[in-house]
Amino acid sequence: MIERLDALRAEGEHALVGAASAADLEAARVRFLGRKSELTGILRGLKDLPPDERTRVGARANQIRARLESLLAEAESRLQAASRPSSTRDVTLPGRRPPVGHRHLIPSVLRELEEIFRGLGFAVASGPDVEDDWHSFGALNMPKGHPARATTDTFYLRDDVVLRPHTSSVQVRAMEKVKPPLRVISPGRVYRNEAVDATHLFEFHQIEGLYVDENVSMADLKGTLDRFLKQFFGPKTELRFCPSYYPFVEPGAVVDIRCFFCGGKGCGVCGPLSGGWLEVLGAGMVHPNVFKAVGYDPERWTGFAFGAGVERLTMLRHGVPDLRYFFANDVRFLTQF
Ligand code: PHE
Repeated sequence: MIERLDALRAEGEHALVGAASAADLEAARVRFLGRKSELTGILRGLKDLPPDERTRVGARANQIRARLESLLAEAESRLQAASRPSSTRDVTLPGRRPPVGHRHLIPSVLRELEEIFRGLGFAVASGPDVEDDWHSFGALNMPKGHPARATTDTFYLRDDVVLRPHTSSVQVRAMEKVKPPLRVISPGRVYRNEAVDATHLFEFHQIEGLYVDENVSMADLKGTLDRFLKQFFGPKTELRFCPSYYPFVEPGAVVDIRCFFCGGKGCGVCGPLSGGWLEVLGAGMVHPNVFKAVGYDPERWTGFAFGAGVERLTMLRHGVPDLRYFFANDVRFLTQF
């Protein structure tokens, strides 16, 4: 009887350990541990055995049953683990796109502005960031000692050399190079010694424009800016011209647009005192002294000029509350545009 039990144990172990599927395992369970199995039969028949044999056979049979039961449990969990996907990779899922960079908002707005003005017949001009006194101030009706020089908070590198505080300098260079008529815009980086805050940077971008021809009038300026601002801010944009002073134009104006956040009621963007208007650029008719400085005959030629801050235009259009976001290199900000 003991030998038979040992044989059952070997067979049972083999069947349970080797079960390759749930069906195999169930068959092995029925065969070695089921109600009608040989082992169960032996255990049931113990009571008919003589006492000393009953003890020996009983102990061995119970031992074998416990061993087979534990092998059964092991095999069950082994098969269950195997029936789960072997890894979390699902090859049928679409691939993940690697993050791809794109042009920064400010250069992309600069290109957009260039396209708008190209469409109006303007050529794009560029010039040096490090500029001399003449092109920054002298030729623009700001001789040495002129009080307006101080208002630009210019960085001086040497007495007569500055980081350009506006791209008007590029237009002076353009006028020195070509005879009228002339239509140019000068987009580019400018520098001013400002304390940095939400609405001031010491390094930013401007786009300035200049149109020189015979009989250029304020109406041409208004038409050009109306077209430009409607294309940039939307076809419903309303403009307003307010008299203002710049040494290189006469008359000069500040151009406002009706606040498109509140529709002109006054809000956090346009401020409670603005009456619902946002200042977007400076403009005016070119001063005769500027024409004289570059050798154009002020009796014959007339022209208009304007200049706008690119970051300011961009911040207004996109509702960005702080200029510093543009250059903080935070991808959470940059990927929105
Ligand atoms: N150059 C002026 C500035 O930097 C802008 C401007 C240009 C104003 C042309 C009037 C006409 O602020």
